[in-house]
Amino acid sequence: MNAEDMWDERYNEADQIWSGNVNAAVADVVSDLEPGTALDIGSGEGADAIWLAQRGWQVTGLDISRVAVQRAAQAADAAGLSAGRAHFVVADVTNWQTEDTYQLVTATFLHSQGAFDRAGALHVARDLVAPGGYLLVISHAEFPPWAIARHQAEGHDHEHDATTPASELELLQLDSDQWNVELAELRSHEATGPEGEQATLRDTVVLVRRRSE
Ligand SMILES: C[S@@+](CC[C@H](N)C(=O)[O-])C[C@H]1O[C@@H](n2cnc3c(N)ncnc32)[C@H](O)[C@@H]1O
Repeated sequence: MNAEDMWDERYNEADQIWSGNVNAAVADVVSDLEPGTALDIGSGEGADAIWLAQRGWQVTGLDISRVAVQRAAQAADAAGLSAGRAHFVVADVTNWQTEDTYQLVTATFLHSQGAFDRAGALHVARDLVAPGGYLLVISHAEFPPWAIARHQAEGHDHEHDATTPASELELLQLDSDQWNVELAELRSHEATGPEGEQATLRDTVVLVRRRSE
């Protein structure tokens, strides 16, 4: 099954699969930044993009799943956001092309089963940051136990997908003449699984800034 169909199938399992809340590290890190244009890659059901738009960012959400994009657009509409503030596109980031660059590019938990070129996806994200702009990558330093159980049942071992601040920086291949590392650390957050299970999980949080020209 291709990635588009796999993610559509995943989203079609329930009316909503994520919490609907902004990721805590996004809220914490972005609160200090001056709003401008933003691109959220792997925007899912739109919670981060909507939160950004509500704080003055002009946001494009991008996701490979048509179902997710429809949900995100509906959620933005329900939140009273015009398409000028938040709009969503269906695309595979690894081959997405645009003339635009963004003051902020976010990629939160951009993990995927199967043949996913995560390095390629993050290189696209990096290359879409405008001079003076930021790239925020938040990823699983450890996966939720319920996700591990689910993926093992599906025959996918994704322990190797777990990240560290060092592995994320290595994957990004930043030119030190062009980029400053603002933040590269582990943070914990409380998570709730599909059956109400609770877990404290560690995330890798990396914020880098492209120098102004
Ligand atoms: C684990 S979810 C995270 C969703 C959201 N960022 C959040 O934190 O709730 C990963 C998302 O990435 C999307 N995705 C996976 N591969 C992608 C690709 N190649 N291009 C664009 N989106 C992709 C999936 O459809 C899914 O919505």
